[in-house]
Amino acid sequence: MTKYYHITTYGCQMNVHESEKIAGILSELGYESCERIEDADIAVFNTCCIRENAENHAFGNIGMLKKLKKSKKDMIIAVGGCLTQQIGKADVLHEKYPYVDVIFGTHNLNDLKALIIKKQKQKKAVIEIKDEGVICEEEHPLRTSFPNAWINITYGCNNFCSYCIVPYVRGRERSRRSENIIREAEELISKGYKEITLLGQNVNSYANGTDDISFPELLRRIAKIDGKFRLRFMTSHPKDFSEELAKVISENPKICHSVHLPVQSGSNPVLKAMNRKYTVEDYIGKVEILKKYVPDCTLTTDLIVGFPGETEEDFLGTMRLVERVGYSSAFTFVYSKREGTVAARMDNQIPEDVSKDRIMRLIALVNSQTRSQSAQYVGKTVEILCEDFDTKKGLYQGRDGYGRMAYFASDKNAIGEFVNLKITEANGISLYGERI
Ligand code: SAH
Ligand code: SF4
Ligand code: F3S
Repeated sequence: MTKYYHITTYGCQMNVHESEKIAGILSELGYESCERIEDADIAVFNTCCIRENAENHAFGNIGMLKKLKKSKKDMIIAVGGCLTQQIGKADVLHEKYPYVDVIFGTHNLNDLKALIIKKQKQKKAVIEIKDEGVICEEEHPLRTSFPNAWINITYGCNNFCSYCIVPYVRGRERSRRSENIIREAEELISKGYKEITLLGQNVNSYANGTDDISFPELLRRIAKIDGKFRLRFMTSHPKDFSEELAKVISENPKICHSVHLPVQSGSNPVLKAMNRKYTVEDYIGKVEILKKYVPDCTLTTDLIVGFPGETEEDFLGTMRLVERVGYSSAFTFVYSKREGTVAARMDNQIPEDVSKDRIMRLIALVNSQTRSQSAQYVGKTVEILCEDFDTKKGLYQGRDGYGRMAYFASDKNAIGEFVNLKITEANGISLYGERI
């Protein structure tokens, strides 16, 4: 009888890709994927704890499985990811949801197979959280994102931005050897993947302190692989964004002309309190270098409002910076207090109503910029990489080299193809076009 798995993923691309690795492990154990959690023999939750709501969301959904588990006693429920890696959280989880069978952390994804086998043999829950991780090159991700493929280049983070939990739950920065990364990229391209995204919390510090090649050189070598494909990377920490990197982007047409460069705030006192290690002026300097080498490069960013001590004037600095840079889109967040971080101990936390008001104003500004940039597309021809079929719209969808989403009709399956579209309509962030 076929046994099924279901994975629920929260959080960033890193987690989405790790769920592909979990899927690989489960398929090696003989499970097949299923759409509905009710049909699963094993349900895995790959969690996130970057903000409180991400954590609550996961806890809520795990809580909802109590009934299902009662009626389906043999079902295995496994919880892993960043939430479980927080100090003491695995025990909280076990106490609150005793019907969870396996709890694992971010450093022992590769033990999952053994942990499941152990659980199959015993009644007691299997809980294993490790403090440190080593890089494992024996992974066989079951990729679900064709024609896009993610490749990890670094794990962990050493930056300790004062608001952020990632360094605590992902550990110190570790870089994969460049030859392994390049080999993985070559394999994916030979299999027909058309877009490679290199992943790391701070890709620009790749291989720092080792004898391996630098990040710009890594990009250069991957961009030299034969075949038509796009190369992206995220995330770039502005403090480590170099002129060399801007140069490499300008010289290698396969590298997309869109860079995600999270600024977080447009106020120097806030950036200092955030421990971001750059000023607004430094950041603008980096943007100017990038634009000097790659004039058509678009930028996206992450922004936080309501960081402890943020004044109205600080917030207006963020608004001015957004106007100045003209981001093509931005992820906007209300600061969320994370236990154990430096910012959680700051005493000037911002009231919720003030943060809410600020985020609304910021979202309105970001959206108006995105809309006006979209409108400029109408009448132009763009090359998009078709990624999926949107069943609701009944249209194929894909993105251009700048990351802009466009929809179009097609008689035949276009997923994985580069398609030229004449843009006929812009609606919010989305573009609509006709195939030419
Ligand atoms: N390593 C990446 C991204 C990490 S998390 C980087 O440094 O850019 C993605 C985004 O979540 C961050 O850029 C930040 O904007 C946001 N974030 C992180 N911690 C947060 C917190 N405590 N509250 C609100 N937003 C947060
Ligand atoms: Fe978090 Fe800062 Fe590291 Fe990004 S660079 S993961 S925001 S600590
Ligand atoms: Fe990603 Fe969330 Fe962990 S953003 S690194 S899954 S805390």
